[in-house]
Amino acid sequence: MSEKRTSIHGQWANRTVFILAATGSAVGLGNIWKFPYITGENGGGTFVLVYLLCIALIGIPIMMAEITLGRRGKQSPINTMIALAKDEHRNPGWVWLGWMGVAAGFLILSYYSVIAGWAMSYIFRTGSGMFLGVTADGVNSIFTDLVSDPERLLAWHTIFMVMTMMIVARGVKQGLEKAVTYLMPLLFGLLVVVVIYAMTTGYFMQGVEFLFTPGTITREGVLTAMGHAFFTLSLGMGAIMVYGSYLSEEYSITQAAIWIAIADTVVALLAGLAIFPIVFANGLEPGAGPGLIFQTLPIAFGHMQGGTLVGVIFFTLLVFAAWTSAISLIEPAVAYLVENKGLSRIYASVWIGFLTWFVGLGTVFSFNIWKDKTMSIPYIFDNLTFFDTLDYLTANIMLPLGGLFIAIFAAWVMREQSTKEELATHPVIYKTWRFLVRFVTPLAVIIVFLNAVGAIKI
Ligand code: PFF
Repeated sequence: MSEKRTSIHGQWANRTVFILAATGSAVGLGNIWKFPYITGENGGGTFVLVYLLCIALIGIPIMMAEITLGRRGKQSPINTMIALAKDEHRNPGWVWLGWMGVAAGFLILSYYSVIAGWAMSYIFRTGSGMFLGVTADGVNSIFTDLVSDPERLLAWHTIFMVMTMMIVARGVKQGLEKAVTYLMPLLFGLLVVVVIYAMTTGYFMQGVEFLFTPGTITREGVLTAMGHAFFTLSLGMGAIMVYGSYLSEEYSITQAAIWIAIADTVVALLAGLAIFPIVFANGLEPGAGPGLIFQTLPIAFGHMQGGTLVGVIFFTLLVFAAWTSAISLIEPAVAYLVENKGLSRIYASVWIGFLTWFVGLGTVFSFNIWKDKTMSIPYIFDNLTFFDTLDYLTANIMLPLGGLFIAIFAAWVMREQSTKEELATHPVIYKTWRFLVRFVTPLAVIIVFLNAVGAIKI
């Protein structure tokens, strides 16, 4: 590196704050809403196994690479890619990686906000006592009523986007620290409460078996599991890179990445352990789709002691977890506008927030008036709604592709000396990391891609 850079956006107070912020980004709807429903849709055991393997062999090494790139570049992912390509005397064309990340974050937030809106509306539904003594049919019709009403979805989506952009406008560092320190452990505690309730349903072991006994998986399922490893760890689009750019030099990237991955995985597994016993105890369908947690958790809150209070706090914390993830989804775009267009954070946030909100309308409608409008791309996917298309394109294609090229950049394009200096870790850890990002991670991503389109068979 020619000179020591500093970030114009400031830096985290210390390593713990960085870990908390990155964990706040990682733990979100992906763990509690998405993981259970895609596990249900993909048959359980084997899917979970592939997901765990992807976290360990692909997720952790790529997270280390992303933080390394971010901390070395000290700018938004777009400018970081330009700066690092220059440092390494490489083609400036690598900047497209930053742009793809910005696009992915923008598209993800557009639908993420709609789902966070569902969670918000459930704070009030639970609080009103609507779920007391509720049956499986009852929760089902309450959920259907909500998603079939575009006006209500739109109102909640709007509120969530405004909340998100307000924080982004102020700067991600303010406020995030305290909030994450107290609220994350609380969310964790409440998940444990629901798991304890799940143990009383008499179907706990059936849930455990579903999650951990290997069975069959489709090619598509393998791609979904890998895509989810990226999604849940916030990888492949620059969110963790931009957070890494606010991290000062003296902290260990390796430890941080391992901590974040463990915390994230534990939350997802707890969510699975909370939800599947309730699914089986009530004769529900594990493959019910995106409504799964909204059709199961209210049953628990409607029947446990003090369930209304637990439910209100649970959905509030879920919204909070979604919020800390949403902020990181849009930070790369806002940081870029501030750096390159000289906009204030407030202007940049308002503009990007408005565009994201607008694209989110497509997701709002795909659960009601556009429910039957689907799209297909030959060899890639068939008959998906607007929401499913965005989810597929981002989680299954853009994030893994972004991650693949981040690995290639860190391991093949940057000089060994640069990454060694930045990671500053034990030689054995460094060698293992480098081997993983050079060979294992890129090959794994490519094989899963080729397998999904049927070009090879595994
Ligand atoms: N990791 C978040 C979740 O699991 O909910 C979602 C997410 C945030 C994905 C930030 C990607 C990202 F860059």
